[in-house]
Amino acid sequence: ERSYKITLLPGDGIGPEIIKVAVDVLKEIGSQEDIKFSFEEALVGGAAIDETGSPLPEKTLEICRGSDSVLLAAIGGYKWDNNPSHLRPERGLLGLRAGLNCFANLRPATVLPQLVDASSLKREIVEGVDIMVVRELTGGIYFGNPKGFGKNEKGERTGFNTMIYSESEIDRIARVGFETAQKRGGKLCSVDKANVLEVSQLWRERVTELGKEYPDVELSHMYVDNAAMQLIRAPKQFDTIVTGNIFGDILSDEASMLTGSIGMLPSASIPESGPGVYEPVHGSAPDIAGQDKANPLAQILSAAMLLRYALNEATAADRIEAAVLAALDAGYRTGDIMSAGMNLVGTKKMGEVVLQNLAQKVVSR
Ligand code: NAD
Ligand code: IPM
Ligand code: MN
Repeated sequence: ERSYKITLLPGDGIGPEIIKVAVDVLKEIGSQEDIKFSFEEALVGGAAIDETGSPLPEKTLEICRGSDSVLLAAIGGYKWDNNPSHLRPERGLLGLRAGLNCFANLRPATVLPQLVDASSLKREIVEGVDIMVVRELTGGIYFGNPKGFGKNEKGERTGFNTMIYSESEIDRIARVGFETAQKRGGKLCSVDKANVLEVSQLWRERVTELGKEYPDVELSHMYVDNAAMQLIRAPKQFDTIVTGNIFGDILSDEASMLTGSIGMLPSASIPESGPGVYEPVHGSAPDIAGQDKANPLAQILSAAMLLRYALNEATAADRIEAAVLAALDAGYRTGDIMSAGMNLVGTKKMGEVVLQNLAQKVVSR
């Protein structure tokens, strides 16, 4: 029997609802595959602010560091939206990523055949899309200094942030991009704004230089505005995308709509060493929180990524993914992926169907 410690960070909004479903799925696969999970829950985001006064209590980081991997749901909500920045839930998430040094965020956007009609784009545009966005996660404008509020020469208030990348930060994320492309379709598109930003000029220079070490990868460069357009115009031209923190944030939400819903997209936030954070791309969806409406599949698929990348439990990951596909095959849909003729269900029911598929070893056709 293999045994792993998993830290659970339910966070806010729909977080507790969807993480519960994913934990049930992990327990089921554990009992079937002879894997023992011990779960420890910790506070982050708004829940942590309310309980401790801090969006990322030191104890949470300690628990995460002492575990094999971290499963995070989502943070944030209206209640904390007017807090000063150091007391916002989002600061907890950023602190967690930085504290665990999770510099590489893998965000796959795969259009499943079952969900082609859930996309807002035409079938022929999205069918077969399979993109991996490699987003730099601990640098760029999210973390650059100086930042803050000030006054200009006219005495007006100003707000400012700094987009900054060092060569070593660019190199390490670029390598993840190249290595990811090598394992996939062999194509890497680096997205930047090198026509305007110096930080992007350095980015493009380093990525081009490193590209010489990966002659088997076909490297291209694209400006972020064009990339946003091309993702909608002809998404199948993309295989792997590597980009900075804020561009990756925006493009991965955009890419989610190719697949039908942001409620489908998992992600892996990976450090050089130590535990990583496995988290859906979406947020805490305060508009539907507590109503049993959230799609739990991004969270379940994030748990599958945790098994695959953090624990090297590929069989268990494959089986969870197959059980998810089988639930879609059988016509079950939460509201965000609903289409004509399908069976509308809530968070819990979707979870139960996936569990049943796992228990009965139902796999996708
Ligand atoms: P959001 O992703 O929470 O929601 C955007 C829209 O998508 C909403 O209409 C929501 O109902 C829907 N949606 C999201 N996830 C869904 C799911 N699983 N099933 C069905 N529908 C889903 O983004 P937002 O509204 O811009 O942000 C809400 C809060 O979440 C903010 O406080 C924001 O800072 C935070 N946030 C957190 C994370 C994270 O924890 N990783 C990510 C993004 C946003
Ligand atoms: C995400 C979120 C976060 C980000 C916020 C909540 C800090 O949008 O995980 O995509 O911008 O990285
Ligand atoms: Mn985002």
